[in-house]
Amino acid sequence: MLRRLFFTLFVINVVFTFSTFAHKYKLKDEPDSAYLFSYNANGLRFAWSHDNKNWSSIGRGYIYLRSDYGRWGTEKKMIAPFLIKGRNGEWVCIWSLNDRTNQFAVSTSKNLINWGPQNYPYVTLGKNVLSPVIAFNTQNDEYDIYYSDADGKYFETKTRDFIVYSQVRSISVPTVFDNSINADINGLKSGQSHRVPWSVIRDLQKAYEIQEFKVKQNNERTEDDAKRFAGLKPVDLKVSLQPEKAKKISGMLTGIFFEDINYAADGGLYAELVQNRDFEYKPSDREFNDEAWKSTFSWSLSDEETIFSIDSILPIHPNNLHYAVLDVKVPGAALTNTGFDGMALKRGESYTFSTFAKHLEGSKSDFEVRLVNGKGIILGKLRLKSASAWKQVKGTLTSSADATDARIEISPLSTGKFAFDMISLFPEKTFKGRKNGLRADLATTIAAIQPKFVRFPGGCVAHGDGIDNIYKWKNSIGPLAERKPDRNLWGYHQTMGLGYFEYFQFCEDIGAAPVPVIAAGVPCENSATGGGGQQGGIPMAEMGQYIQDIIDLIEYANGDVHTAWGKKRAEAGHPKPFNLKFIGIGNEDQITEVFKERFTLIYKALRAAHPEITIIGTAGPFFEGTDYEEGWKIASDLKVPLIDEHYYQSPGWFINNQDFYDKYDRTKSRIYLGEYAASVPGGNKTNLETALAEALYLTALERNGDVVSMASYAPLIAKEKHTQWNPDLIYFNNSEVKPTVGYFVQKMFGNYSGDQYIPAKVKTSVEQEPVNKRIGISVVEDTKSNHLIIKLVNLLPVEINTSLNLDNFSIAGETVVKTEITGNPSDNSIKPIVSEVNIRNSVKIPAYSFTVFKIKLKGYKLN
Ligand code: AHR
Repeated sequence: MLRRLFFTLFVINVVFTFSTFAHKYKLKDEPDSAYLFSYNANGLRFAWSHDNKNWSSIGRGYIYLRSDYGRWGTEKKMIAPFLIKGRNGEWVCIWSLNDRTNQFAVSTSKNLINWGPQNYPYVTLGKNVLSPVIAFNTQNDEYDIYYSDADGKYFETKTRDFIVYSQVRSISVPTVFDNSINADINGLKSGQSHRVPWSVIRDLQKAYEIQEFKVKQNNERTEDDAKRFAGLKPVDLKVSLQPEKAKKISGMLTGIFFEDINYAADGGLYAELVQNRDFEYKPSDREFNDEAWKSTFSWSLSDEETIFSIDSILPIHPNNLHYAVLDVKVPGAALTNTGFDGMALKRGESYTFSTFAKHLEGSKSDFEVRLVNGKGIILGKLRLKSASAWKQVKGTLTSSADATDARIEISPLSTGKFAFDMISLFPEKTFKGRKNGLRADLATTIAAIQPKFVRFPGGCVAHGDGIDNIYKWKNSIGPLAERKPDRNLWGYHQTMGLGYFEYFQFCEDIGAAPVPVIAAGVPCENSATGGGGQQGGIPMAEMGQYIQDIIDLIEYANGDVHTAWGKKRAEAGHPKPFNLKFIGIGNEDQITEVFKERFTLIYKALRAAHPEITIIGTAGPFFEGTDYEEGWKIASDLKVPLIDEHYYQSPGWFINNQDFYDKYDRTKSRIYLGEYAASVPGGNKTNLETALAEALYLTALERNGDVVSMASYAPLIAKEKHTQWNPDLIYFNNSEVKPTVGYFVQKMFGNYSGDQYIPAKVKTSVEQEPVNKRIGISVVEDTKSNHLIIKLVNLLPVEINTSLNLDNFSIAGETVVKTEITGNPSDNSIKPIVSEVNIRNSVKIPAYSFTVFKIKLKGYKLN
C-alpha cells in the first residue's frame, strides 16, 4: 500500500513536471491543437477531438464549473451553458437557471479551471430566460447576449463588463450566431466546439488528475490501516524542545460557535419548557408551508364544553399578535402544552410559571396551573387570577417527582372567556441562576471547554433565508413579549428568548469574548425565498439604516448607560458594558458584485465609527474555490484584520493538509477558522478517528498560532430527533447531555492553551511519510500560569515510545498531569482519563490516542 502511495505520488509528480515541461516544449506525439467541446451534465464538462466528430471525454466527465444559484438540491442547476472565448482570450460561460426566473448566470475564466464569481443579472423583458447565447463583438468591444422565453420570443442585451447591461430589447430573430453542435459522449450532448492549443486540453486533464489525487488522500481512513501499516512496529519518537525559538501565538485559539440550528436555542440551551409559548408559530416558518405548524402547535384542549381558539385583537404587543382564548361553558377543561418532546422535571426543583392573562367574559377569573406526568399524575399545582386587562401573573411550582414526559395544564375554574399569551414554565435552577437563563447542565458542559470566545447567532441564521429573514438583533432584546419572533431558516421558529442580551450575559458568565456575526447586507446564497441567493441584497437605499443598526449594536454592548442603546442594556439589568471587541461581517457568502458593494460599505463605515472593533471578513464555505479566492482578495484590498474560513472535511483531508497555514502570508489578514469539523463521509458521523484527525490539525493550528487567531468547531449543540446538521459537538435530549469525542478534544485544547509556541526537533524511528503525518506534536507555554503544555496525537495503529528532552526547562516536581483519550477509532463514546506520570521517563503513547501533559514550570535553563 505504502509503495503504491509512493508510486502514485511519483506518477503524479511526473505528470505535473511533464505537463509543465510539455506546456512550453511540445512533445513529438502531441498535436498542436484540437477541438474542445463543452457540454452540460449537471455542470460544465469537456471532451476533445482531432476531427470535431469523434470525442474523448476529459477527466472522465469531470465537472469544471457548477452553478451556485439558489437552494441546494433543487436549484443549483446549469441549464444550456454556452461557452465562448471573449476579450483577450478570456472564456465566458452563460447559462439558464430554471424556467421561472428572469435572470441568467454568467462566469468568466482565464483557463477553464479557475472560474471567477458567478453573477445572476436580472432581465427586464420576457417571461423567463431560456437558452442564452453570447458572442463577443470585437468591433464594439462588447458582448451581445440573446435569449428566448417561454413564449418563444427573443430578446437582446449587451454588456462590456458583466456588471452594467444595456436596456433589454425585443428582437424578431437572434442576432448572435449559435454555433452549438451535437457530440456523442455517452449519448448525444449539445454544446460548443472550439479549436484550442493542445496545452488547454492537457491542463484540463492535469487539473482532473490533481483533483483525483486529493480525493484519494481525503478518502484515507483508519479502517485501511491494517493494510496500510502491515508489519509496522511501535515507533520511537524523540522530542527536543527549542525554547530559544519560541514565538508568540494567539491566546484565543479555542472558541465555540453557537447557532440556533438543531433546536439549539428554543428547546435546547434556552431553558424555557413551553413550546410555542407566544402562539406565533406559522405555516411559513417551515419550507413548503406546513399547515400543522401554526399558532396551536404543541397546544391541545380536549373538551367539547370549552372552545380553544386563537385571536389577535388587542394583543399584548404588535410583535406578538396571537394569543389563546378559552371559551369555557362548563369548567374542567385544561389547555395543555407538552413542551419540546415532553417536559423534563426534577423532584424537589422549582419552576416559575408565568403568563399574560385577561378574562374577556365572566366575573370569576381563577385558573389552576398543573404539572402533570405522562401517567396523568399531578406533580405540582397552583392557583392564579387573571384581570380584565392584560397582566402578567406568576407563581412557583415544585415538582414532587422526576419526569421526562411531563406537561403543563392551565384550567379555568369557572365559566367565561379567558385569554392567555406568553405562557412560560422556567426552571429556577438555570446556569448561574440567571432569569430567562440557560439550561444548567448544557451550559455547564459548554463552559467546561473554557472557550475564549463565542460566535453567535450563526452560521446561516445570521444571514437568513432571503433578506427579510436576516437576523435583526434589535428584535432579540427587551421584554420577552415585545421581542419579534422569526422563522428559523432551519425549519422551525425562533422566539428570540435567547437573544443578544442573554448571549452577551452568557459570554460574560463563562469568561469568553462575544463574536457576533452580522449579515453583510446579503442573505444566504442558498436562500429559498426572495430570489435565489444573494441577488436579493438589501436595497442600497436602505443600507444606511442597516449600518446604523450595527453601530447601535456596538453601543448596546459597550455604550455608556446615558446613550440610547446603553440605556436599554442597563434596563435589562446590565449597566456595565459587555466589552465587545469583535464583529464578523458576513458568513461564508458567495462573493458576488452584490456582496462586494455592501461588504465594502459596511466595513468602511464601521472602521470609521469604531476603529477599536476588530472586523472579521468572510472567505466562503470551502478552503478553496471562487469564494475563498475572492473573499481573500477583498480582505487583502481592504486590509480586513481577520478573515473567517470554513471547511467541513473527511479525516483524510485533515491528516493531509496539516501544512495548510504553514504556507499563509504572515503580512495579510489573520485567520479565524469559524467552522470546521472532520466527519465520516456518508452520514457525517463523528468518532475517535474524526476527533483525532481534528486534534492532529489543531496541533498544526497551534504551530500557526501567529497567523491563526481563533478557531471554533462546527455547531455546538444538537437536539436528538431535531438535528438538521451533522456533525455537532454536543448532542442532547431533554434530560441528558451527550458530548462527542470531538468535544473532549476541544475541551483539552480549551483547558490546556498557551500564548507561546515552543518549536521542537522531532525524530522518529520510521522515516515514512504516511507514518510521520499521523503523529502530531505541539508544545505551548501558558506564560501567565507558568505551565508547559505538551500535546501528542497518535493516529497510528501502533504505540509510540516517546522521550521528551526537557533539559532546557526547570520543572516544579517530578510528576505531571496527563489527560488521555484513546480507544477504537470507530468508537464514539470515549472519555478522557486523567492521571499523573513521571515525564522524565520515556512515555508510551497508545495507538489511536490524544495525550496532553501539563507541566508546572519553575523557569527556563537557557544559556
Ligand atoms: O454549521 C451549519 C451551517 O454550516 C452554518 O449555518 C453555515 O455557516 C455552514 O454552512
